[in-house]
Amino acid sequence: TLMFETSAEADKHVSLVIESLIRENNSAGTPTVLGLPTGSTPIGVYRELIRLHNEEDLDFSRVVTFNLDEYYPMDSTSIHSYRRWMNETFFDHVNIPEENIHIPKGDIPREEVEAFCDDYERQIERAGGIDIQLLGIGRTGHIGFNEPGSSRESLTRKVTLDPVTRGDAADSFFGLENVPMEAITMGVGSILSAGKIFIMALGEHKAPVVKRAVEGEITEEVSASFLQKHPQAVFVVDVAAASKL
Ligand code: GLP
Repeated sequence: TLMFETSAEADKHVSLVIESLIRENNSAGTPTVLGLPTGSTPIGVYRELIRLHNEEDLDFSRVVTFNLDEYYPMDSTSIHSYRRWMNETFFDHVNIPEENIHIPKGDIPREEVEAFCDDYERQIERAGGIDIQLLGIGRTGHIGFNEPGSSRESLTRKVTLDPVTRGDAADSFFGLENVPMEAITMGVGSILSAGKIFIMALGEHKAPVVKRAVEGEITEEVSASFLQKHPQAVFVVDVAAASKL
C-alpha cells in the first residue's frame, strides 16, 4: 500500500508511472495499453495526464485504452454514459486515436451482449494485454462492476448491480429509479491479467472498504481483495482512506 498525505500527491504518483511507461514505449515505437476506470477517484489522474500532454508534449498517439465498464442498457450519448464521461473527462483532451479506444457498449441488443463481451476479451489479447490497469473501488468492494459473488476467473460479461452501488449512483441519475439494473464489466480475471495495477481510494468514506480489501480475507464477497495476490498491484490511498488500516 502506498499512502499519500493528499489526493494530489497520489494523482501525481500514478500519473508519473503512466507517463514514464508511455515515453519509454514511444521511444521504442511500441504501444502502451491502459485499462481505465470512471468515477470521481481517477479524475485527478486524468487531469494530470492532460496537463502532461498540453505542457510537456506527452504523446498519446500509440496509447490503446480499454475501459472497465458501462451501464446496460445505456445510450453512448446519454449524459449518464461512461462513454460520454470518458470523452469529456479525458479522450477529448489528448491525442489517443479513436480506433485505439475501447469501452463496453451499453446500446447493443441483449442477444448480442455475450458475443460482444467475448470479442472485448479477444481485443485485449490482440492488443498484447493491459500494461497498466487503473482502478477505483466501490463501497461493496467492487472493481469495475464486479459485485460480491464475482469469481476470481470471471471475464467480461453482463452483471446485475448491487443495491448499494445503485444507491451510490442515484444522485447522479437524479433518482434511484433511473439507475440501470445492469452493467457490462470486465471481469476479475480480465483485470488480474494486467501487468501492473493501481487501485486508488480517496476520502474517509472509502476507509472501511479499503480495510476489507487490503487486510481482509481474500473472498468473492470483496472482489478487490483478489488484488492482494497480484504481484504488481498497488493500493494508492490518501490519509483519510487509510485511516482504518
Ligand atoms: C462505479 C464504477 C467503479 C468505481 C466506483 C467508485 O461503481 N463502476 O469503477 O470504482 O464507481 O466510484 P468513485 O470513484 O466515484 O468513488
